[in-house]
Amino acid sequence: MRCSIFFVVAVTAALFATASAANRIKRSPLKVSVYYESHCPDSKYFINSQLHPYFCKVRQYLNLNLVPFGKASSTGEGDFTCQHGPKECRGNTIHNCVLKRLQDPKSQVDYVNCAFYDPDQPGLIEKTCVEQSGLDAQDINKCYASEEGYMLMLNAENETKTMTPGPLFVPTIVFDDKYNDEDQKNAFRNFESTLCEKLIKHGYIEVCSHGVIINPEVC
Ligand SMILES: *[C@@H]1O[C@H](CO)[C@@H](O)[C@H](O)[C@H]1NC(C)=O
Repeated sequence: MRCSIFFVVAVTAALFATASAANRIKRSPLKVSVYYESHCPDSKYFINSQLHPYFCKVRQYLNLNLVPFGKASSTGEGDFTCQHGPKECRGNTIHNCVLKRLQDPKSQVDYVNCAFYDPDQPGLIEKTCVEQSGLDAQDINKCYASEEGYMLMLNAENETKTMTPGPLFVPTIVFDDKYNDEDQKNAFRNFESTLCEKLIKHGYIEVCSHGVIINPEVC
């Protein structure tokens, strides 16, 4: 009798220790940075089909950092060249202006998701998405055409070139400010299971089951 009570106590204590160890380890937000371009088809795919549907289900565990710049480059003469031409420089600058004004990550994801639906209608789609985000399209245009937009692009360039290996591929997805090829491949292919794997390592053991996020919320 005494023996089995001891057993129950020992098992309970062990389970408790395991659960609290998982909680204690690193239950801290997972930082997810996405380095993307406004007119890049792979960025559109990632944002519309991976980031947007899964972000809202786990947003309380994430620290999201969206950086629109990609394989662009400053010319050193107050201008930029962009992978998909001038329309992309314009798009990237507008995204930078909008993201700076929308501090709420869910609003940021909603804006970027909207802007990717038809990026080849510059002006029109942006105005619609800007207004849906509750921002003033004139204010965004002012940012785009001024020093503010230029400085935001320079900051995005610095961060993109510092935190990615190039970038070699756009979008580049970085977890906790540490790039690696494996995470990049997995996150681009299956963002949901990659998020699950990372969240478990951050101590959020209850969020997923077999690589699927449990929260049924539809984004
Ligand atoms: C460049 O980016 C890195 C990484 O985000 C940051 O630590 C550094 O302060 C930035 N430098 C400038 C000049 O903005």
